[in-house]
Amino acid sequence: MFKDRVAIVTGAASGIGKQTAIEFARQAAQVVVADIDEKSGTGVVDELKTGGHDAIFVKTDLTSEADCENLIATAGDTFGRVDILVNNAGIEISTPLHEMSVHEWDRLLDTNLKSMFLCSKHALRTMIEATSGVIVNVCSVSGLVAWPGIAAYNATKGGVMMLTKSLAVDYAKYNIRANCVCPSIIDTPMTDTSIGHDAAVKEQKAQLNPIGRLGTPEDVANAILFLASDKSSFVTGAALTVDGGYTAI
Ligand SMILES: NC(=O)c1ccc[n+]([C@@H]2O[C@H](COP(=O)([O-])OP(=O)(O)OC[C@H]3O[C@@H](n4cnc5c(N)ncnc54)[C@H](O)[C@@H]3O)[C@@H](O)[C@H]2O)c1
Repeated sequence: MFKDRVAIVTGAASGIGKQTAIEFARQAAQVVVADIDEKSGTGVVDELKTGGHDAIFVKTDLTSEADCENLIATAGDTFGRVDILVNNAGIEISTPLHEMSVHEWDRLLDTNLKSMFLCSKHALRTMIEATSGVIVNVCSVSGLVAWPGIAAYNATKGGVMMLTKSLAVDYAKYNIRANCVCPSIIDTPMTDTSIGHDAAVKEQKAQLNPIGRLGTPEDVANAILFLASDKSSFVTGAALTVDGGYTAI
């Protein structure tokens, strides 16, 4: 489905990003794995190459403009083009707002929102030249409704939502589409950190979704690939919930 297309996935050393990189590779894309975690990111690329796929790792601190600029340039220099940008990397800090330090707030905003601005900024320059491109941002149900206890995280995802719509509106004239996915709780290392490994707690969280289970990284990756593909060529500015019905209630 993505033969001769180049897909950059941020935060692709783990969880949703890793699975997205794997699915793009399975669909014949040339994949750029970007992450701050060099060991795991290199591991993902080794796995892809062993499977006969074309992939590179670019060590990137997404809160740094120089690193984001280098990421896009390296993708272009290596594969000759940048067709797809998946802004996926994010962190969760659950400190209650009245106890949150400015450092924590800034870290959340920088990682979850500024990173998407920086990567989009530099990818757009290449995409505008090519009059073609697709951006998929990983938002959350918490960009749509307030998830209790994580106000600052919710605020970052609200920002991701409006950044996505703005990208869609401003860059449609260059044949560039932008959409986001909004997952509820997905079973990833991030979730293990935030709710722990306790099966009973996971089951309780799963019951928040009418479908009655937690999401998998594959569930989200499949939605991302749809939005990155030509099958969604008339879809832009959309927020696709991947939430087992969580926001339908
Ligand atoms: N897991 C969930 O329940 C869930 C639900 C909704 C939305 N999301 C969103 O999905 C995205 C991926 O989450 P996940 O669950 O796969 O998380 P994860 O922790 O498994 O993976 C996140 C990856 O981002 C990387 N990263 C973090 N900060 C970085 C930085 N400054 N520069 C480069 N890389 C950095 C990490 O090294 C890691 O590899 C995030 O944006 C998250 O907010 C997750």
